[in-house]
Amino acid sequence: MNTLPRRRIGRFYAPLALAVGLGLLGSALFGSALGQDVKQSLSVFDTSSGYIRETTTLVIWGLVFAALIFIGTSAALFYTVFKFREDKNTAEPAQFHGNNRLEITLIAAPVVIVMVLGLLTVRTMARTIPTPTAAIPLNAVAAQFYWNFEYPNEKVTAPATGLVTNGNELIVPVKTPIAVTATSRDVIHGFWAPNLGGQRDAIPSVKKTWQIDTNSPGVYQGNCTLLCGASHANMRFKVIALPQADFDQFVSAAKGYQAPAPAANSPEAVGYGIFMQGKDGAGACAACHRVQGTPALGQSGPDLSFFGTRRTLGAGKWEGKDVDANLYQWLRASSSIKPGSVMPHYDGSTPNYPALTNAEFMGLIAYLKSLKLPTGGNYWNQIEALVPNAPVPAPQGATAQSVTVPPTTAQTEPAPTGGN
Ligand code: CUA
Repeated sequence: MNTLPRRRIGRFYAPLALAVGLGLLGSALFGSALGQDVKQSLSVFDTSSGYIRETTTLVIWGLVFAALIFIGTSAALFYTVFKFREDKNTAEPAQFHGNNRLEITLIAAPVVIVMVLGLLTVRTMARTIPTPTAAIPLNAVAAQFYWNFEYPNEKVTAPATGLVTNGNELIVPVKTPIAVTATSRDVIHGFWAPNLGGQRDAIPSVKKTWQIDTNSPGVYQGNCTLLCGASHANMRFKVIALPQADFDQFVSAAKGYQAPAPAANSPEAVGYGIFMQGKDGAGACAACHRVQGTPALGQSGPDLSFFGTRRTLGAGKWEGKDVDANLYQWLRASSSIKPGSVMPHYDGSTPNYPALTNAEFMGLIAYLKSLKLPTGGNYWNQIEALVPNAPVPAPQGATAQSVTVPPTTAQTEPAPTGGN
C-alpha cells in the first residue's frame, strides 16, 4: 500500500510534470533528438521561408487585433466599474433607453476588424499559393512507410524511362518556390518539413498542391504527421536545399544517370541477379523498387536509383553510421527492426520468399552501394562543403565490408504475411 502523504507527492511531481511538459513543448517547437542518433534542427519560426514569413505576418496581425480588443474591453470594463461605483454615485442614475452611437460603434468595429483580417488572409493566400510559372513542380508520394519524391519536369535522358526520383531524400533549390503535390499509395499520411512551410495531408487518389520554399541552403528534417501505422514515427525524410547552380548540377547528373553494370563474377553481379530476377525465380527486389537505367521499374517501394549516395536508411529511421549498422538486418528481416515494415523477409520466414545466403546478402549490399550519383550530383557533398555546420549525416561505407553482419539466429519478430 502506498503510504506517502498526498501533499508530498504533489510537491514532488507537480514541478516534474511541469518540467516534462515544458520539455515536450520545447522539443515540439524547437526540435530534439529524443535519444535517437538523428541530427536535425527543426523550427516552425524559420524565417528563411517566405511561406513562414507570410503566415507569421498574418498571425501577428491577428494577435495585434486580439490585443487591441483585449485592452479596449478591459479599459471599458474598469472605467465603468470605477466610474459608477455606488459609494461615489449616491444620486439616482440618468434614465434613458438605448445609445445609438454606442450600438453602431459596437457593430461597426468588429465588422471592420473581420474585413481587415479577411483581406490580409486573402493577400497571404495569394502570396503563398504556388503559381505554375514560378514554382518548380514536385510530387511527394507517400506509402507505408516511406516517401518518393518525383520531379515531373525532369524526364530521364539516359537510355532509360521515367522521372528523376529519389526516395526519402528531397533535393530542392533555394529562393524558388516548390509546388509540392502530395498523394498516397495506401493510407493517409502527412507531409511536413516545418522549416520550409506548412503541413499537408497526403491522401490516396487525391492530389493536393501547395508551396514550400527557403532562402537558406541547408539540411532540414521532414516527418510524416498523420498516424499511419506502426512505423508512422519512422517515416521521415531529409530536405537538402541547394543554391540553384548546385541544384541544377544534381538534376543534370540525375537525368543522365544510369545505374552501373556490375563486373562479371563480382559480388555486385550476385546482388544484381537477385535484385532483378530473385533467387531461383522468386523474390526479385525489382518487383517493388525502381533503379534508373535497369529493368527494375517497381513502383510500390522507395526508389533506389541513388541508394549509394544516400545517407539515410528505412525512411530516415537510421542515418550516418547507423545505416551500415542496420543495412544487413534491414534486408534480411526489415520488420524486426522497423515495426510494420511491409518488405518481405529474406531469412526464409516469409512464404514464397527465398532465404538468402550470407554471400547473397553481401552481394545485394555491394550492388546497392554501387548505385551512386556521379561526384557532381552528390548533394550531400555539396551541402557539406557549402554549409559546414549543417546537420549532415556521415556517409555510408563505400563497400559491403563496412556493414554489421548480425548473428544468423536473430529471428525475433514474425514475418509479414503478404507478398510485398
Ligand atoms: Cu505516414 Cu504517418
